[in-house]
Amino acid sequence: MRHFLDLKDFTKDQLNAMLDYGIALRQNYKAGKAHDTPLSGKHFGMIFEKQSTRTRVSFEVGISQLGGTPIVLSANDMQLGRGESISDTAKVLSGYLDGVMIRCLFHQTLMDLAQHADMPVINGLTDRSHPCQVMADLMTMRDVHGLIEGQIVTWAGDGNNVAVSWIEAAAIMGFELRLACPQGYEPPADIVAWARDKGAEITLHQDLAEAAKGAHVIVTDVWISMGDEEGTRVQDMTPFQVNDAVMEKAAPDAIFMHCLPAIREMEVTASVIDGKQSAVWQEAENRLHAQKAILAYCCGGVC
Ligand code: CP
Ligand code: NVA
Repeated sequence: MRHFLDLKDFTKDQLNAMLDYGIALRQNYKAGKAHDTPLSGKHFGMIFEKQSTRTRVSFEVGISQLGGTPIVLSANDMQLGRGESISDTAKVLSGYLDGVMIRCLFHQTLMDLAQHADMPVINGLTDRSHPCQVMADLMTMRDVHGLIEGQIVTWAGDGNNVAVSWIEAAAIMGFELRLACPQGYEPPADIVAWARDKGAEITLHQDLAEAAKGAHVIVTDVWISMGDEEGTRVQDMTPFQVNDAVMEKAAPDAIFMHCLPAIREMEVTASVIDGKQSAVWQEAENRLHAQKAILAYCCGGVC
């Protein structure tokens, strides 16, 4: 079954093939040329246990552009929200749908869905990882710098779900990743160990300015992720704000990325996110094209 659960399940060649296909789809779409429709006649579901703007709209539009029919399902409006098991849900939906994306509170829900579904399952964000986001981020790196391998990427702030997918990407695609995270907010040790085992150049830092030196990409995320509302996160993360002083340490042609939503003057200053080095709008748009490639891989036999 062609699931898309985490980047670590793929080889560099497979991820590059998806990026190539997404970029080709984007070129055709923007030129107004005929667009491949590998999802023609197929119905693709999207289950949301958490809020979403980009993932929801880019998947819905992407499925339509590929010729398929999107069906958005809020978990609260489903029997899932009243306690029906994910395994029963998986078996039932497999009789109706050709594939499903899920954004869920717990990574285990994604894994259980994939285990019991007789159709491809895509990870649209869990508490553990966000691989669709980082595919769009890799596409943006290629757009701006022309390459991914050998680049230096500095992550600032919470070692969260997005950071985990960046770690997996670094190990597979071959770029250096420096993670500047406050004590207690480091990424999970198991994924760092897995990446280093694969030969990845991954370093953990307490000083963001030091970690930013010569970097080609500076990337951050909200300080308070969905479900992380408790605690002293804002105080703890304050020294890890991406501001002009941090950007000045990076390479002169460095870009700033953020999966969004962003809170200005918290994880990033307005001067950076709205400044000339910011690639966040291109990055957000690339969600559409990267996801179409993932959908085509999972459901259309492409890539
Ligand atoms: N970056 C991202 O996944 O955005 P949404 O939460 O709006 O889907
Ligand atoms: N880390 C964030 C990403 C939002 C797209 C969250 O989980 O809320």
